[in-house]
Amino acid sequence: HNTIPVITIDGPAGAGKGTIACMLADKLGWHMLDSGAIYRVAAVAALRRGVNLQDENTLAALIPTLNIEFKEGDAWLDGEKVTSDIRNEICASATSQIAALPAVRAALLTLQRNFRQLPGIVADGRDMGTVVFPDAPHKFYLTASAEIRAERRLKQLSQQELSAKLCDLIQDINARDERDTNRPVAPLKPAADALVIDTSSLDQAEVFATVLHYIA
Ligand code: CDP
Ligand code: CDP
Repeated sequence: HNTIPVITIDGPAGAGKGTIACMLADKLGWHMLDSGAIYRVAAVAALRRGVNLQDENTLAALIPTLNIEFKEGDAWLDGEKVTSDIRNEICASATSQIAALPAVRAALLTLQRNFRQLPGIVADGRDMGTVVFPDAPHKFYLTASAEIRAERRLKQLSQQELSAKLCDLIQDINARDERDTNRPVAPLKPAADALVIDTSSLDQAEVFATVLHYIA
């Protein structure tokens, strides 16, 4: 295996590893290993089987029984496409929990090393250059301030995710209004002698002007 070239790209979330790894693999015509995606698929499997995320032995025993594949830009778990499941927040949180367990990391080592195939591989993650491919001739570590990385993530939220979030927020707001309005004690409602101002199509300055005008 060791004669097959590897370029490793490690660093924290949002440093730009995945993007650069993809561009590099494209340019060189090499394979790519998104090791974070492997950890994420393992986390999805653990969540689905209801395994306690701190139960190191059960998790380590589960991993070799899984069929984790990547083809045509999708992630697969036991023949089922899990591309969108591995990108949600529940999965992200579960992933970082199981990734902290040594036996889990050991169980995923061979699977990751098997991606080392001719003509070469670009591997991105956290420990590609330190643990998985320590003999790689070219290693990079990308980083950036937490503020910049958070801003990048925010921009990454697709329009679809944003509208799904908006939909959730509308439901939350309606449910809360409903509870506040219908409670027997001091429910939400305008006083009989209150001026009702609908702010839907007013900006803050216009609302303020209306209030001042009314007081005057
Ligand atoms: O895309 P992002 O950088 O946010 O995360 P990722 O690369 O998909 O990795 C998700 C999580 O998996 C990381 O936060 C780490 O906890 C874990 N991970 C790891 O421990 N070792 C790796 N080589 C890759 C990922
Ligand atoms: O894989 P990792 O989590 O390190 O980062 P990424 O998914 O490659 O990059 C996160 C986002 O930051 C992507 O939308 C990139 O296009 C963007 N980015 C950027 O705007 N400028 C950079 N120098 C690097 C990444």
